[in-house]
Parts: sequence; C-alpha cells; structure tokens
Amino acid sequence: MTDPFEPVKASIAVTLDRLLPKHSPIAQPMVDAMRHAVLGGGKRLRPLMTCAACEAFSGDYRVALPAACGFEFIHAYSLIHDDLPAMDDDELRHGQAATHIAFGEANAILAGDSLHSLAFQALAEAPGLSAAAKLRSIALLSQAAGWPGMAGGQCLDIEAEGKELTLAELEQLHAAKTGALIQSALVVGGYSAEVAPDDARLELLKQFGAHIGLAFQVVDDILDVTETSETLGKPAGSDAALAKNTFPKLMGLEAAQMRANELLEESLALLEKAGLATDMLTELANRAVKRSY
Ligand code: IPE
Ligand code: IPE
Ligand code: MG
Ligand code: MG
Ligand code: MG
Repeated sequence: MTDPFEPVKASIAVTLDRLLPKHSPIAQPMVDAMRHAVLGGGKRLRPLMTCAACEAFSGDYRVALPAACGFEFIHAYSLIHDDLPAMDDDELRHGQAATHIAFGEANAILAGDSLHSLAFQALAEAPGLSAAAKLRSIALLSQAAGWPGMAGGQCLDIEAEGKELTLAELEQLHAAKTGALIQSALVVGGYSAEVAPDDARLELLKQFGAHIGLAFQVVDDILDVTETSETLGKPAGSDAALAKNTFPKLMGLEAAQMRANELLEESLALLEKAGLATDMLTELANRAVKRSY
C-alpha cells in the first residue's frame, strides 16, 4: 500500500535539502555532519504534524513547509547532542553511525549548533508567512527548544539517571524533552494557515499536542525495551544501561502500553472536540503510538 503521506513527505525532503547548506569554504566537515544528521533518516513526525495542522485549519501545507523543516532541524540537532558521549553515548542512529562517530565530536556539536540557528532562519525567511505568524512561531519554537522545553527536559533526564522519579515528575520530564517540540510543531502549523485560528481551537490543538507528545515518548521508552537495535536503527536497551527513568521502568511494560493507548484515545477525542479530526492528523496520532520504530 502506498503511504498517503508520501507527497507531503517528499515535499519535506525537498525543502530540507534546499534549506541545508551543501558547501562551505570554511566548514565543510560540519556541513557534511549537518546533512548526515538530517538527511540520514527519521520519520519526519514533527514536520508532518506542522503540515497536517496547517491543512486542518484550511491552510496550504506548502506555506508551512519551511517552518515544518525548522522543527526537523531542531529535532535533528537534539538527536546529535542526545547521542554524544556526555549524554546517552549511543553510536547508532537511523541505522547508521551517529553523527559524532561519523564526523567526530567537535563537528557533531557544531553541526547541532548550526542546525539550531538554521531552524530560526528557516522560520524568519519563510515565504508566504505573515510577519505576525513568523514572530509568534519563532517565540514558540524558542520556548519549546530551550530551557522550559527540550533542553530543560534533557537536563532533567540526565540529572535523574540512577535516581527514581515519581510518575508525575517523569511526565513532566517527557512533556518538556519531547512533548514541547511536538506540541509547538502543531501550533505553528495552525499559525501558518492563512486565516489565524481562534484561541479556543488553538487551545484544544495544544492539549492534543501535549497528549500525543507524551504518548510518543512513552512509546519510545517501550520500544527501547521490546525492539531490537536493528528494528529501531538505534541501540535498544540504551535506557536500562543508563538507569534512565522510563514509563516501563516505573509502571511496568503492560501499564505503560495501556497509558500510551489511553493518551491516544484522549488525544483523538480532543481533535474531535476541536473539529480538527482530519484524516491526516488522526493518522499521525495513531502512528505516533502504534509503531515499531
Ligand atoms: C526520537 O524521536 C527521540 C524522541 C524524542 C523520542 P523520533 O522517533 O521522532 O526520531 P526519528 O527522527 O523518527 O528517528
Ligand atoms: C531523547 O530521548 C529526546 C530528545 C530530546 C532528543 P531519548 O534519549 O529517549 O531518544 P532516543 O531513544 O535516543 O531516540
Ligand atoms: Mg536521551
Ligand atoms: Mg537517547
Ligand atoms: Mg529513547
């Protein structure tokens, strides 16, 4: 069966390639590392979410593409740094050498730095987005990527290694390190629609994003236990090796799976309530939870 997301995915691939640098007279190894990290693989969940949310608000997803790719750049940078020896110390990503293995630690760190700023450039220079939409999007992405969001969550994730968090604390961790970026990718999709969505529907979209973002990380934790490195394209068992706090560890595998399913059901109900239960958003939510890698 052909993937109904293929046309959007292909547009995302073309835009990622176009926005990434190819040649640099001063920093070719770093540029090669950036391309390796972004173009080496990935499900493209966040940019698909941006495009899907834009369409759900009757926008043209093509307008949202540069912003969507900005989210993928932040995501790719977060994975480069996540795999570094100072963090999770994983050598495999997307079935190939992690960026620091392929290009050395210094170039991996710098490629992450450059992807971070490239994301904001993509948003600032997005053709077809109003100045107001750009500003709102940049402000939101700053929060989601930075200390209250992904980077903050990563800090807690590392600090909590070898200690036991409560379930509430773990939900907070996951909401920050993974949920914030997924949630904001959706909201920026809404901002990218031609007619700005009203606050009530945006609020419901945010709640949907919080639920599906958390579910996504719960499933990531589960797959680390249940799947092989070959299927995942990244080292299985990495969480246990680092004594990470995860849902399966804190509540057991079966309860974690039930929690993920419950979050999916709640997220789908929120989409219905918002009048945003399009085929694409519904399918993306399902794929975020029912997946094997
Ligand atoms: C992996 O994210 C890291 C998490 C935040 C859970 P993805 O599973 O979306 O990574 P790729 O890009 O599809 O490999
Ligand atoms: C990482 O979570 C989340 C990020 C913000 C990158 P994990 O450390 O569980 O992600 P994987 O399993 O290595 O992809
Ligand atoms: Mg990690
Ligand atoms: Mg990791
Ligand atoms: Mg993981």
